[in-house]
Amino acid sequence: MKAVIVGTGYVGLTTGVALAYLGHEVSCLDVIEDKIKMLKAGKSPIYEHGLEELMELAKPNLQYTSSYEEAGIEEADVVFISVGTPQNPDGTPNLEYVKQAAISIGQHLGTKFTVIVNKSTVPIGSGNWVSSLVRDAMTQVDGLKPEDRFAMASNPEFLREGTALHDTLYPDRIVVGAEEEQALTVLTSLYRPILNQDFPALEFLPRPEGFGAVPIVTADLASAELIKYAANAFLSVKISYINEVAQLAEKVGADIMQIARGIGLDTRIGSRFLSAGIGWGGSCFGKDTAALITTAEEYRLPMSIVKSARDVNYQQRVWVVEKLLNELKILKGRTIAILGLAFKAQTDDLRDAPALDIAKHLMQRGAKVKAHDPVALAHARKYFGDSGIHFMDSVEEVLQEADAVVLVTEWPEYRKLDWENLKVHMKTPLLLDGRNFLTPSVVEQSGLKYIGVGRGHAKKG
Ligand SMILES: NC(=O)c1ccc[n+]([C@@H]2O[C@H](COP(=O)([O-])OP(=O)(O)OC[C@H]3O[C@@H](n4cnc5c(N)ncnc54)[C@H](O)[C@@H]3O)[C@@H](O)[C@H]2O)c1
Repeated sequence: MKAVIVGTGYVGLTTGVALAYLGHEVSCLDVIEDKIKMLKAGKSPIYEHGLEELMELAKPNLQYTSSYEEAGIEEADVVFISVGTPQNPDGTPNLEYVKQAAISIGQHLGTKFTVIVNKSTVPIGSGNWVSSLVRDAMTQVDGLKPEDRFAMASNPEFLREGTALHDTLYPDRIVVGAEEEQALTVLTSLYRPILNQDFPALEFLPRPEGFGAVPIVTADLASAELIKYAANAFLSVKISYINEVAQLAEKVGADIMQIARGIGLDTRIGSRFLSAGIGWGGSCFGKDTAALITTAEEYRLPMSIVKSARDVNYQQRVWVVEKLLNELKILKGRTIAILGLAFKAQTDDLRDAPALDIAKHLMQRGAKVKAHDPVALAHARKYFGDSGIHFMDSVEEVLQEADAVVLVTEWPEYRKLDWENLKVHMKTPLLLDGRNFLTPSVVEQSGLKYIGVGRGHAKKG
């Protein structure tokens, strides 16, 4: 089948490359010409496991372009909209990119039946809205009746950055929403190799053991759109819940690691998303929970649980500052080292990254902040070069003269650090492990004071 992907960011590029590998003819379109140049040169603009390798393998089926004329929309069976929907200051998602994409697609559709798919996370009702934008744009271009030439669908994306290709090829489920049966049929056939799991697995992206056929959830447009928001809100709530319990654990002298294990083994609860720490960040949870709340407000529903999850989450970042203040008494003039800038390991994404927020709070209190990241430094220097944060190339440099170090991102290389030797660079041997990622006893044996999240009784750990 022929597919056009509009917007080749984390979601669009992953989807396009995976579909091309599965044998479809894919055209990846983006308005940023530099991205397209990089892609044409075989380079991925984002850090994502296996992406460049799969781009190379799928090359015969892949085309990259910054031109709507060249993308082949008029011959496409499916056109995905996977542009960004960043958060507006009032919490609503910014739909300007979706609007532009919809109009441009409408202007380029041919007479062939095409399914237009919202893969971007968009508010409930966006399917109808995009459909009307496409319809208007089509009519203006050729005056022909748009009926029967396209159908609208919603296909929310659940990939996680860092394991984006794995999640695309081996998803828990595929959700497809549409009002017309034909749209569901087209998308079911596009995803057939994933649904049936009959494509050859790759050495660098192995199929999980025992992984079988993937369930498809077909729904109406509004339900598919709400599934995405409800799923992200649920995960956000789960993380905030364990973080709230972690605060209590610390006060009563209990260990959140033992508690999380104790409750997570209950199959009704499950152990995932029960890691206490400084909370979630990234491009999705923050903006999607905000969007869910603003949508619910239109219907005068308070969405209290989701609101509280957000409050708890952002308070965790302030907690880091309070904890340091408690230890160091004065933050003015202190040097604080931050290990990890990306919002989580295995990505270079800095959107709503806790590290940047924590750094801002610390600098507001007069501290000097130095930061390191094994992958996201280039992005950090490019986008946050004038933030006041000192970006350092090595862990040794970041620890130099530090009064405390805060581990913010759980990069595996930070687990291997030799604290015995590293602590000599620091002014005060104090480590705040914002992800409960290190073994407290190992850090303490190296002569540093260890502080975790919710680890009131972690000395033996
Ligand atoms: N990143 C994730 O982990 C993730 C997971 C699930 C869902 N989502 C959702 O998917 C959507 C895309 O997210 P992302 O992280 O891939 O965003 P991104 O910012 O990485 O990529 C979006 C791309 O769209 C391009 N674009 C903007 N307007 C365009 C236009 N008119 N025509 C062509 N290209 C255009 C941009 O240049 C950019 O390259 C968002 O709605 C997001 O909420 C993201």
